[in-house]
Amino acid sequence: MTTQQKITYLDNAATSFPKPEPVYQALDHFARTQLANPGRSSHRMAKEAERTIDNARAALNRFFHGEAPERWIFTLNCTDALNIAIKGTVSPGDHVITTDLEHNSISRPLRQLEKAGVISLTRVASDGGYIDPDDIRRALTPATKLVAMTHASNVLGTVQPIAAISAIVREAGALMLVDAAQSAGIVPIDLRTCPIDFLAFPGHKALYGPTGTGSLYVGSRTKPRVWREGGTGGDSKKEIQPEELPYALEGGTPNALGIAGLAAGIAWVAEQGEEANRRHEVALLQKVVDWVDGQGHSDGWKIAGRWDPATHVGALSLITPNLDEFHPQVLADILDTSFAIAVRPGLHCSPYIHRRLGTFPDGTLRLSPGPFNTAEEIDMFLDALAEVTAGVL
Ligand SMILES: Cc1ncc(COP(=O)(O)O)c(C=O)c1O
Repeated sequence: MTTQQKITYLDNAATSFPKPEPVYQALDHFARTQLANPGRSSHRMAKEAERTIDNARAALNRFFHGEAPERWIFTLNCTDALNIAIKGTVSPGDHVITTDLEHNSISRPLRQLEKAGVISLTRVASDGGYIDPDDIRRALTPATKLVAMTHASNVLGTVQPIAAISAIVREAGALMLVDAAQSAGIVPIDLRTCPIDFLAFPGHKALYGPTGTGSLYVGSRTKPRVWREGGTGGDSKKEIQPEELPYALEGGTPNALGIAGLAAGIAWVAEQGEEANRRHEVALLQKVVDWVDGQGHSDGWKIAGRWDPATHVGALSLITPNLDEFHPQVLADILDTSFAIAVRPGLHCSPYIHRRLGTFPDGTLRLSPGPFNTAEEIDMFLDALAEVTAGVL
């Protein structure tokens, strides 16, 4: 297969593709006219690059209704943002609460801190892919410093009751870190009404920026420790990192090109409406759920987690009928090579939920449509699955 062949891309939960046209235009324009080092020099191009970054911060602040643009730190990805929040916040003796839905970008830093004896950790179990706010309430102790959890499961697509959980955490005096990797741009998040202290997300999924972009919102009740010292383009006389945000947490040349693309992605999402995009993706997934539920030819296939279109984003995991004949990895390879369909098999960097589902270590077959996928493409995916499994089921 050549790269020219059209791919039916159903892997938007990993990173979105294609990007909206204005994103490509913004990348091209910025790369050709403004790709200087923002804030580092006094010439016009550097100032324009800096203005692009400032505008992107302001756009994020408007989009999520944050307290101030400088509270949005640009990061390399969501993992970067989560690590800054977690490692910059916890101290020896702290208790942290997390869940079994988490991606390794939360699970691994927390497990590492637990193994090193720095923190104690409670991992709350989900039911059908959902966390019960009362389970978080019960896990809180006077030593709980941080609750770190995902807004939407990247394996199941289930959206967590984050407003209710954040209110419980705030009342208890702990800090709330939300991993919005699968929700930012697809489920509205309003920081005025949802008491989130840290909001971490990638720019490259449902905000449609390029890879290499992400952000961390640092709320006013938090002050994460500086994690990387370096140039900020500002006051170079200072011997140590400036204390003010965003510079305290942003040493080094930023991914200005990526941020220019991200800004165009945010503008595109704001125009479409998050709910419109979510509904489109969920309607596509409903076809798959109907196929699994209804038809004789799909006997043996199962949907992982509870399907509720009202509390779902555009990711769905299929449990394959029988691992010997239909291993998720083998199926994904066949879909790719014989049908040019891109999906993601395996554990999706989230081993704990697969243990809970009983799908560890082989995992599931995840499909995650985006705003540009069509019902015909989902039909092609289902026809391909039927063809691959024909005669064996
Ligand atoms: C729920 C969740 N959290 C975190 C991440 C990590 O994002 P990134 O690859 O941008 O670091 C992902 C990526 O798939 C994710 O799905």
